Amino acid sequence: MSKKQMKLGLSMRYMGYHVGSWRHPDVPADGASLFQSFLEVAQTAERAKFDMLFLADGIGVRLDDKPKGSMCRSRHNVELEPLTLLSALGPLTRNIGLVATASTTYNEPYHIARKYGSLDQISGGRAAWNVVTSWSDQEAWNFSMSKQLDYDTRYERAHEFVEVVTGLWDSWDEDAFLLDKESGVFYDEKKMHVLDHVGKHFSVRGPLSVRRSPQGRPILVQAGVSEPGQQIAAEYCDMVFMAKNDLKSAQDYYSSVKDRLEHFGRKRSDLLMMLGLTPIVGRTREEAHEKYEQLEALIDPIVGLSMLYRSFGDLSHLPLDGPVPKPDLDKVGLKSSAEMYYDLAQKQGLTIRQLYKKIGMAQEHKTIVGTAADVVDEMESWFEQGAADGFNITPSLLPHGINDFVELVLPELRKRGRFRDEYEGRTLRENLGLPVPASRYAATASSDRRLAS
Ligand SMILES: Cc1cc2nc3c(=O)[nH]c(=O)nc-3n(C[C@H](O)[C@H](O)[C@H](O)COP(=O)(O)O)c2cc1C
Repeated sequence: MSKKQMKLGLSMRYMGYHVGSWRHPDVPADGASLFQSFLEVAQTAERAKFDMLFLADGIGVRLDDKPKGSMCRSRHNVELEPLTLLSALGPLTRNIGLVATASTTYNEPYHIARKYGSLDQISGGRAAWNVVTSWSDQEAWNFSMSKQLDYDTRYERAHEFVEVVTGLWDSWDEDAFLLDKESGVFYDEKKMHVLDHVGKHFSVRGPLSVRRSPQGRPILVQAGVSEPGQQIAAEYCDMVFMAKNDLKSAQDYYSSVKDRLEHFGRKRSDLLMMLGLTPIVGRTREEAHEKYEQLEALIDPIVGLSMLYRSFGDLSHLPLDGPVPKPDLDKVGLKSSAEMYYDLAQKQGLTIRQLYKKIGMAQEHKTIVGTAADVVDEMESWFEQGAADGFNITPSLLPHGINDFVELVLPELRKRGRFRDEYEGRTLRENLGLPVPASRYAATASSDRRLAS
């Protein structure tokens, strides 16, 4: 019997997840602003049959120069807007999925439905939306707000936002367009649906001015860890991106999301849990560890401290080789990260310097240092033990990270029957093996409403 295969995504933000990646001698320092760098990486990932490319996003520069002098040393100041970048990559690729992040706090549902609907048409059914609520005041300051919306309001808005977007994506039945030149009828009136949504946060009439998606609707992704985040994932989403470092907490989170699906009439296999993974791989373990140490040396201490600032406040007055203090969870921006970092420091007995070096390597993603066999052993173990359905590779450096993965890790994964040799279909949904959601109007033709002329 053939073995169950893993799904694989490639995260490309800033051309690598290592905080000092731009300082590496072989990395183009301004790579995050260069279309050509992304194109080469995307084409390598597609040749390797990756399921998707992923671009995380924040709508604005989230840094605020704390501690002072850190901001001008960070690469997190400039990048390309994800949906624009993926739209440009669309026609230059054929099979690989295109996952762009967009915020429900600083957009309107109609915009999102239209833009992702269009990317889906342009790419032949390969678009996906990573739904986020955003988490920083810096983003709010770019949108005429003095601070971000409170947590509950953000998620309440997100829930209604997704409901409206999915409703708009059902505006047209698949066979709505008659395009009958003879009779002059462009579409079948019974097959166009007006949403007429009126809710707490949005009033949206519809219909959407984009036809139905080639994959039923674009893929929806979520990464919210909190109760409302998991609820949105279980009700609407096809995939969850997760960042977990220990097996037990990954398994708990995996089950927590999957257990919710039944309530919404969905199967456990209708949603894929994708774990962020940073492999630092060498032909020998020694080579891999050398690479790791080379990467550690690229982290400027002040940039390291700035990474901890949002979770712990200013630690620059404390000895770098001393213990990590407990964070004040009522004051931090990203609670889940603060908890995770503190927990990591406690469990592994890390000093402040060791903690920022660990996070600086791949933010909060799981890192494996070793040979291809070491990496694949660990991937298989987490996959088999109900911690992940696949992995979102978050390389420290690009293009190195993808090149090493393709050259060393993929052959080992394929040898063990864990990854495809060819794409199964054309759309992202087909390749992920996910069901096509029925239109909300499919079973209730009598409830169809038509737009008054
Ligand atoms: C793998 C991963 C990718 C994420 N990508 C983004 C992103 O691109 N933009 C963003 O604002 N937040 C992003 N987040 C943060 C989540 O949207 C969410 O705020 C965070 O996981 C905490 O969950 P909570 O909001 O339910 O507390 C990401 C989280 C994870 C784990």
